[in-house]
Amino acid sequence: MFMGMRQTGEFELLSRIATNDGHGENCSYFDGWKAYDSDPFHPKHNPKGVIQMGLAENQLCFDLIEDWLKRNPEASICTREGISQFRDIGNFQDYHGLSSFRRAIARFMEKARGGRARFDPDRVVMSGGATGAQETMAFCLANPGEAFLIPTPYYPGFDRDFRWRTGVELLPFDCYSSNKFKITQSALESAYQEAVKNNVRVKGVLVANPSNPLGTTMDRETLRSLVSFVNDKNIHLVVDEIFSGTVFDSPDFVSVAEIVEDEPGRFNRDLIHVVYSLSKDLGLPGFRVGVIYSFNDAVVRCARRMSSFGLVSTQTQHLLAAMLGDEEFTSKYLAESRRRLSERRRTFEAGLREVGVRSLDSNAGLFCWMDLRHLLEAKTVEEELKLWRIIVHEVKLNISPGASFHCSESGWFRVCFANMDKETMDTALGRIRAFMARAERHRATNEKKKKWAAAAALRLSLPRNGRRYDDILISPHLAMSPHSPLVRAAT
Ligand SMILES: Cc1ncc(COP(=O)(O)O)c(C=O)c1O
Repeated sequence: MFMGMRQTGEFELLSRIATNDGHGENCSYFDGWKAYDSDPFHPKHNPKGVIQMGLAENQLCFDLIEDWLKRNPEASICTREGISQFRDIGNFQDYHGLSSFRRAIARFMEKARGGRARFDPDRVVMSGGATGAQETMAFCLANPGEAFLIPTPYYPGFDRDFRWRTGVELLPFDCYSSNKFKITQSALESAYQEAVKNNVRVKGVLVANPSNPLGTTMDRETLRSLVSFVNDKNIHLVVDEIFSGTVFDSPDFVSVAEIVEDEPGRFNRDLIHVVYSLSKDLGLPGFRVGVIYSFNDAVVRCARRMSSFGLVSTQTQHLLAAMLGDEEFTSKYLAESRRRLSERRRTFEAGLREVGVRSLDSNAGLFCWMDLRHLLEAKTVEEELKLWRIIVHEVKLNISPGASFHCSESGWFRVCFANMDKETMDTALGRIRAFMARAERHRATNEKKKKWAAAAALRLSLPRNGRRYDDILISPHLAMSPHSPLVRAAT
């Protein structure tokens, strides 16, 4: 018998990376997707199914892209008009990428930032989405066991992208709703000192601006102090700017590229890196177009070599070079996309407000950060997940609990609103309305129960002929209502 055929468990046959949980798909963020997959909402075929509100996809402007494609059939090598380019493009495989593509995407990045930042096409390195870009960043900047600080709440994919295969660690530090989850200098400094005390080598700070899940942008002062912090410590700053083109309201988006350029010579540019992708701003996650942009020549060189593992297909580059090179189209697209996102956000937020649900003030992104803290009996992760299960399985909305974003305060949920049509969003709002009405009835019942219990206790403590408190007595059957702190909601 061969050695390899001996009865060995799967865990001995495969590598540690293959068998560990680094992908993170067992967290509640992905669990909700599974619930959706097994019972997806369809207005006609499955109107009681789960509505997917856990996907940060931008589906509001497909018509604009489709329209451009119809008007420019030669941009695709798979059309009669474009087939003459088929052989050249099908054969091209230089990992620098098509120069026309790098030029067009650099220009698009500038436009998405209101023309206030400059991007050099020669520093654009391709990757398989921002997912691949994050991993390449981690590979270039840190060794296994070294760490990056990251403010909470943060996009759960970072745990997979930055850490899983690289062995790099993320050290979260908490931000709070009391200041709109802004990063403070003291939280950053104490996270750094704590790591030093524990003999962990901190190689940098990782942030997403605009934030996923908050939908907020970092103000110039905070961003500048972050740059100043990494400069003082001589560590890196990676800013994921994947949502930069979704900023639909003031204040304007400030890119880290702007900060670096504002004060030439003030900061060490070699420490500053940007991650970008077309998955959100252009709503094309299926195209897997990511960008690693670094001000550090050595990082650009190394990332470019590594990009062989995750290139963007030349066919896609060719098409996008033409589309993003069309200045009139990109200007109109960005403006219209922002207008539609703003409108969607406003309508959704107003619908929530009507039923007494608040969300964090936001000006960007494809989601809102909904505050259901008042529905939790206790401010714990367990209670938050209990509520989340009811919302997923009974209200039939797949939203994402704050815990999956490592949020330090229980009761926040991320709700995506740009991956569906208006009618589906209205259905979702209707379900939230019904759920909140039940929650309110439940709260009122509980309130009465408490009063009743208090009155009963008081009556017991009074002499037999003492004053009666029947006026505040509630029907005793209420005492038998379930003890769950949460309302049992129906759709
Ligand atoms: C902050 C952030 N970074 C990266 C990604 C991954 O994007 P991509 O589809 O380009 O890999 C996402 C996706 O949701 C994200 O929210």
